[in-house]
Amino acid sequence: MQGRTVVLGVCGGIAAYKAVEVCRRLTDAGARVLPVLTRGATRFVTPLTFSALAAEPARTRLFDDPDDPIPHTRLGRRADLVLVVPATAGFCARYAAGFADDLLTATLLATRAPVVLAPAMHTEMWEHPAVRANLAVLAARGVTVVEPEVGRLAGGDEGAGRLADPARIVGVAGEILAARRDLEGVRVLVTAGGTREPIDAVRYLGNRSSGKMGHALARAAHDRGATVTLVTTRADAGPFPFPTVVVGTAEEMRAALRRRFADSDVVVMAAAVADFRPKAPAEGKWKKEDGVPEVVLEPTPDILAELGAAKEHQLLVGFAAETEDVVARAAAKLVRKRLDLVVANDVSTPDAGFEVDTNRAVLLDSGGPVSETPLVTKAELAGIILDQVAARLGRAGRDETPREQT
Ligand code: PMT
Repeated sequence: MQGRTVVLGVCGGIAAYKAVEVCRRLTDAGARVLPVLTRGATRFVTPLTFSALAAEPARTRLFDDPDDPIPHTRLGRRADLVLVVPATAGFCARYAAGFADDLLTATLLATRAPVVLAPAMHTEMWEHPAVRANLAVLAARGVTVVEPEVGRLAGGDEGAGRLADPARIVGVAGEILAARRDLEGVRVLVTAGGTREPIDAVRYLGNRSSGKMGHALARAAHDRGATVTLVTTRADAGPFPFPTVVVGTAEEMRAALRRRFADSDVVVMAAAVADFRPKAPAEGKWKKEDGVPEVVLEPTPDILAELGAAKEHQLLVGFAAETEDVVARAAAKLVRKRLDLVVANDVSTPDAGFEVDTNRAVLLDSGGPVSETPLVTKAELAGIILDQVAARLGRAGRDETPREQT
C-alpha cells in the first residue's frame, strides 16, 4: 500500500467507530488516506479523529469548502481505491441509483478507481430485497463488497450484518491495490460457451461447454484493466461488470464478433463453436408420430479462421480442444487460422476441459510451446494466458496506471 492513495468514505452507522481502526491500519500500511465523512457519520465519529490519524483534512462538504471548490473530482482522480466503511443501506441505495448529492456519492461517480464497500446494518435490513438488489447492481458494475459477518449488532441484537473485521477489510483493499493493471485500455473480446444449432423449434445440437473458461478469461482481463466485451451462449451466467452479448448459434456468434472485430485489440475464442449444424431445421416441433427424422448436417462457418484471414492489428488467441496428438493438432490450427497464440487443452481427462473448474493446457505460438501448465483452476489458466497476451502487447511488467497526484 506504500504510497497509494485511498479515499476512505465513512457513513452514518454505529460501525463508523470501526472505520477509525481501518483508517489507522491503512496509514500503518503506508497508504495516504483521504477521509470523507457523510453528515450521518459525523453524528457517530468526529472528522478530527480521522484528520489526526490520516494527517489529512477529513472532508465533509461538497460545497462551501474555501480551499477546494471542486473536491469530488479532485478526490476521485487522486484515488487509487475508494473504500467505504461502513456502507449503510441508505448509502448503497443512493450509490446504486447514481446520486451525487453529497461529497462521498459525488466522489464515487467522479472516480475510475476500484471501489470496495464494507456494509454494516441490522439483519432485517441486510436481508431486505431492496438492499440485496442494490448490492447486486453495484457488484455487476465491478464494486467489491466485503460481506458483513454474523455477530453482535447495535442494541444488543445478534445476527448477520455486523461489519467485517477491519483487518479483513484492509486485506481486501490491499489485494485490490496489488492487482495487476497491465491491460489497462486494451480492448478484449472474449467468447464463451457452446453454440446451440437448432434441429427444430425446441431441439438443438449442442456440446458440454459451460462457459467457465471464457468467463474466467473475461473476468481476469477486466480485473487487469482491459475494456472487455464478452460474447457468451450462457444467458444464466453473470452478472458481469462489463458488456455481455448473449448468442445462441454459431451464425449469431459470428455476427456478434464481426460487428466488434475492428474495434478490438485482442480476441480470445474460448467458445466451443459447433462444427456442424442441421441443414434445414424444422420450423415447428418434430412430432414423434411422424417417425424418426433424418437430420442432414452442414458445416458451420469457422469464425476464428475468418477472423484470422481478416485480422489487421488484432492479436488472436484460439483454443484447441483435443483428445489425441494435442500439441501437433493445436499447432496445425494455429497456422491454418492465422493465430498468434493457441491454448491446447486435452479434453479427454475428467478433471480438465469441459464443465469442470480446472484445466490443463499447453500454450503455443508459431515458435512452438511457450508454456505448459499443470492442473490449475480456470481462473489461474486465464491469468497465464493473459500474461502471454500482455507480453505480446509489450505490456509485461506494466502494472500501474499513473493517477493524478497533487
Ligand atoms: O466452457 P467450459 O466448460 O469451461 O470448457 C472450456 C472449453 C473446453 C470449451 C475450452 O477450454 C475450449 O477448448 N474451447 C475451444 C473449443 C473448440 O471449439 O475447440 P476446436 O479445437 O474445435 O476449435 C478451435 C478454435 O476454433 C476454438 O478457439 C474455437 O472457438 C474456434 N472455432 C471452432 C469452430 C468454428 N466453427 N468456429 C470457430 O471459431
